[in-house]
Amino acid sequence: MTAIITARGLVKRYGERIVVRGVDIEIPARCCFGVLGPNGAGKTTTLRMLLGQSPMDDGALDVFGLPIRTHGRDIRARTGVVPQTDNLDPDFTVVENLRIYARYFGIGGKTLAERIPALLEFAGLTDRADAGINTLSGGMKRRLIIARALVNDPELVVLDEPTTGLDPQARHMIWGRLRALRAAGKTLLLTTHYMEEAERLCDELVVMDDGRILERGTPAALIRRHVEPEVLELQGEADKARATLAPLPNGRFEAVADTYYYYTHDARAAIKQLEGQAAISFLHRPANLEDVFLKLTGRDLRD
Ligand SMILES: Nc1ncnc2c1ncn2[C@@H]1O[C@H](COP(=O)(O)OP(=O)(O)O)[C@@H](O)[C@H]1O
Ligand SMILES: [Mg+2]
Repeated sequence: MTAIITARGLVKRYGERIVVRGVDIEIPARCCFGVLGPNGAGKTTTLRMLLGQSPMDDGALDVFGLPIRTHGRDIRARTGVVPQTDNLDPDFTVVENLRIYARYFGIGGKTLAERIPALLEFAGLTDRADAGINTLSGGMKRRLIIARALVNDPELVVLDEPTTGLDPQARHMIWGRLRALRAAGKTLLLTTHYMEEAERLCDELVVMDDGRILERGTPAALIRRHVEPEVLELQGEADKARATLAPLPNGRFEAVADTYYYYTHDARAAIKQLEGQAAISFLHRPANLEDVFLKLTGRDLRD
């Protein structure tokens, strides 16, 4: 399969500090590719290099098979960008924001006149076309920014934390839009720290921390590789829970804040033990990407 992005050994320094330390990424066409990592991992910096918005200090980077150093303009014309922070122009209406953005790409006239209704429809903002930006909800703004990123009909859409700060309804709505884009044949590259988002949307992902890629694979493969398939989340008297479960074979404990996690290949024996214990409540669930993420990036708080 042809790769849309091929990056080798990307490095970014700010003064003495190295914030991206030799990142390799290969992104196949027509897939949804995720970059996961805690705050400060280097996700935004990496995306900005991939977009040619931030010069790389070392490495080689081809997008659409073209070297970014010589073809930045061509690459940008074929790419849509959803930045981490909202940068809509509050002095203009919804539709004016789309028009102004289109102008950067030299898109106007009939092409734009045809595209705008479709973009408004995509964003679910047809009846808000003439509304001011400040009257929109967070979810509406985010949808508008995604629609705006499509104004040049890009092959590749890069989204930096597309749903951060949104409520569940707004988030589900955006997930639906992103799936539609992927179904339409676009390549999506997104960063997120919502594991559920990555698990639902991404065909393949990398986990990044401290400027490096720790792991790559499909969500299912990463879960299989790093954690046991079943998890018990234990709350209540942790010591008691531990004492109850410790004698059972093949279980593994992890503690995060006030919750104990018990990972196992078969939770039946553990559940039997716990059912008699009123002081301990538990939730039995399949392992997910969040378990992988916590295992790989540790449990310290990142701000
Ligand atoms: N312009 C900059 N100058 C100095 N340091 C920066 C700059 N931009 C980002 N950094 C630092 O680089 C690291 C990675 O940042 P970033 O790529 O934004 O991480 P992420 O998007 O994963 O949260 C952070 O420690 C951040 O403080
Ligand atoms: Mg970021």
